[in-house]
Amino acid sequence: MLQIVIISPSVRKGRKSHRVAKYLSNFLEETNLAKPEIIDLLHYNFPLFHERLVYHDSPSPEMKEFSEKIKSADGVIIISPEYNGGYPASLKNAIDLLTGEWLRKPVAFVPVSDGIFAGSQVIISLQFTLWKLGAITVPGPLRIPNIITAFDESGIPSDKPAMDKRASAMIGELLSYIEAKKRM
Ligand SMILES: Cc1cc2nc3c(=O)[nH]c(=O)nc-3n(C[C@H](O)[C@H](O)[C@H](O)COP(=O)(O)O)c2cc1C
Repeated sequence: MLQIVIISPSVRKGRKSHRVAKYLSNFLEETNLAKPEIIDLLHYNFPLFHERLVYHDSPSPEMKEFSEKIKSADGVIIISPEYNGGYPASLKNAIDLLTGEWLRKPVAFVPVSDGIFAGSQVIISLQFTLWKLGAITVPGPLRIPNIITAFDESGIPSDKPAMDKRASAMIGELLSYIEAKKRM
């Protein structure tokens, strides 16, 4: 079965975007489309970046685990709240740790905000960073506006049929890029 990693980057007290990570993980399990795994950056608690993992003399077990999980994943979904028009520092801190792990990795985006614009500006910087690293950036992000009312704490959407339809479209696109990558 395909392995899909879901990166949940918010380390903020009272964070909301983690709800979407829970939802997508449940959705992938329910639909049997892939085996999901959430990478919660709050759990990893990486120190502020000072060098890429390959140049560390003794990388921490958490860094090695993060690298292994990205390396072995068939595809990655990045949930990203919008902070002042960009993505959170915690996410950049983690992305920059890795190099070759991102190469030709299909990556789909889920921008999140508590307003009506669904973190749309996040895509610009996030997609560019992943493109620089040689990832296969998948079009058709799942944009999540109004996060506070769109999902409850456990990741259940207020309108599940509508959210499932939109999630299906994003995941379908990711799966088609994973298939294309396998044929390369
Ligand atoms: C530092 C900071 C900056 C923010 N900037 C924006 C922004 O530029 N655009 C926007 O739509 N929402 C912005 N927000 C609101 C976030 O979209 C909202 O708080 C969301 O829940 C953040 O995700 P999180 O709760 O998982 O951390 C900002 C929030 C924070 C904490």
